[in-house]
Order: sequence, then C-alpha cells, then structure tokens
Amino acid sequence: MSEAATLELAADFLRHRVGDFKPRAAVVLGSGLARVAESVSSGDVIAFREVPGLPDTSVAGHGGSLVVGSLEGVPVVIQTGRFHLYEGVNAALVGLPVRLFAELGAEVLVITNAAGGLNPMLRPPTLMLISDHINYMWRNPLIGPVLKGEDRWPHLYSQYDSDLRAFTGKLALERGIRLQEGVYAGVLGPTYETPAEIHMLRRSGADAVGMSTVPEVIVARARGLRVLGISSITNVGAGMKAGTLSHSEVLAASASLAGDLEVLIRGVVGQLAD
Ligand code: HPA
Repeated sequence: MSEAATLELAADFLRHRVGDFKPRAAVVLGSGLARVAESVSSGDVIAFREVPGLPDTSVAGHGGSLVVGSLEGVPVVIQTGRFHLYEGVNAALVGLPVRLFAELGAEVLVITNAAGGLNPMLRPPTLMLISDHINYMWRNPLIGPVLKGEDRWPHLYSQYDSDLRAFTGKLALERGIRLQEGVYAGVLGPTYETPAEIHMLRRSGADAVGMSTVPEVIVARARGLRVLGISSITNVGAGMKAGTLSHSEVLAASASLAGDLEVLIRGVVGQLAD
C-alpha cells in the first residue's frame, strides 16, 4: 500500500475513534518514560496494533500505544513506545505517528529519547535539550511521493523551536533541574557505537547519540509542527569509560530521570493552554 493510502486509512480510523477531540500537542515518550502517560486524565488508550498500518513495537521498555486525553488541562496525544529503524521498518513508518498527530490537528511535538553523552560536560544521568540534530541514519521519512500538506524540500533550519527551548530552560532553572543544551546525532543502531565512531561523532559536532527521534522530527517540521526535543543522557558514549554498555543500564538511568522529565513535559504542555 502507498504511504498516502496507509496514512489515510490510519487517520480515518483515529478520527472515528477520537471523534471531535483535537490534541494541541503530541508527546512522544522514550525508553522508561511510559509513566507520564498513565497520569493523562480521561485517557482513551489505543494500542498501535489497533490502528491499521501500525504494527506493534518489539523493543523491551517501549509500550506501543497512543493515549488521548488531557494533561495539565491541555488536550494531548501521548505516544508511548515508538518504531525504530533498527527494528527493520522504514523511515516512513517511524514517522507515521507524527503524520497522524498532524492530521488530528496537533501543533506542537514534544519528543523525548534516551541517548549516550559525547560531550564531557554531559554527566549522566542528566537531561539535554536538543538544539539541533545530525542525521547519521542516512534515511529520510520524506523519501517517495510528496504527501498532501507537505513540501518536496522542507527546510530544517531552526527545527527545534527557540521559544519552547527558552521556556523549558527557564522552567528547569526555576525547578532546580539540571538541563544542558546540545546537538543530537541520530544513528541506525542497534549496535552501540565503536570507540572510533564515538570519536567521529564528537569531532563532527554531536553532543549526544541515540537511535531515534530524527525521522519523527523531520516529519513534524514538514508538517509545520513546533518541536521540543529532550534527551535523557543515560550513559557516556560506548568506550568512553571502562565497562560495556547494556540496554538495561540505559532503561534504569532513564527511569531515574523520569520525574524531572515529567516536570518539564507538564510545564511545557501546561503553558499551551488558552
Ligand atoms: N548510543 C546510542 N543510543 C543510545 C545510547 C548510546 O550510547 N544510549 C541510549 N541510547
């Protein structure tokens, strides 16, 4: 089925399911953060597998559902779990949930992920506001026919909204939450990086590295959504310190940051109220 047909089918299903509900913001929760979705009031929980065109995700620690409801009095759709390129799916599928959020009327995307820190100033566990990204995935969700409402050549200048970043930075300061800013490098995975790759990523201007987010943000910008991205820096880049890196270590560090991240997400979403 074409991307356009898949999108139309999934969007029709969701519109029917949510009725006249219009989310102002969409929130994508990364590894170990599903708890934020549990506090959404009057939430309808839609499993990925219920939506035509969305397969289930396969990654431990990643839920796989869309929760629609109200967070801090603001209508939201929250995605727990996401598709990763390393699961063997294409970039268009990774970006499909964001296209659906745009179809439902969302204007803001708050996207989170777990990442390895490359900049020595990022001491894990800590949070990083994403100022920009580098697409080392060499995949793009916009490849193929141009979908309705999108341009052939969207620009990615200032893709991480400066007002949302400024607001989040101020909020973190007020709440005593450690938050630095930096460039996120998106890689394919699923292998963690080699020491030589860590060196290259750092030299090329990246402050953190992870295996997600880039496709979703590209779709969001193609659809005109304002984007805020926050990385949970769960570890230092593979090989930057002794010992091996494991997914369970990443999940545990991510969970330790979930409380602070929830404060920031709630604050940012809350200020979108009328
Ligand atoms: N590398 C890539 N992805 C990651 C890492 C990492 O070190 N930590 C969490 N996700």
